[in-house]
Amino acid sequence: MQILKFTSEVEEYNHYNELLEEEQLLVKAAIKAADNAYAPYSGFSVGAALLLQDGTVVTGSNQENVAYPSGLCAERTAMFWAGANHPQKAIVTLAIFAKSEDFEVVDPVYPCGSCRQVMSEYERIGKQPMRIIMTAATGKVHAVNGLINILPVAFDADNLKR
Ligand code: THU
Repeated sequence: MQILKFTSEVEEYNHYNELLEEEQLLVKAAIKAADNAYAPYSGFSVGAALLLQDGTVVTGSNQENVAYPSGLCAERTAMFWAGANHPQKAIVTLAIFAKSEDFEVVDPVYPCGSCRQVMSEYERIGKQPMRIIMTAATGKVHAVNGLINILPVAFDADNLKR
């Protein structure tokens, strides 16, 4: 028996104003997108902004439903819109921002497992590591270069090959 260990590399910034100008703009787009969240049940508004390979920025926000599982996270709302309207364009960077009606979101919000799985698919077809910038209402940032840092050993298309 052997123990296999997987390591992650995460950049931490005290504030998103320490990021590159282009990335700051993407974070600001995610902050703005969170204002369009439809989150009457959780009171937790999330915004996502994607930078596509040609410079296009696509945004999304979480859209809840009274039948709770029918709702969708901000990240998937944005990724599916990008996939539907800009097929063939790789997602270079994805920024996430979250705020709550009830408390201050102090630490950067990481995407849920289902969103990570969807990111994995788009990263694969985009043929480049996706940069993911996770932010909080405090401005604090965690960023990774490549989904492998937040979803190691993903289930992917290779697993379906004989
Ligand atoms: N949510 C997102 O949109 N993205 C995340 O990364 C975490 C969770 C949404 C789903 C739901 O509408 C609300 O936040 C509370 O879970």
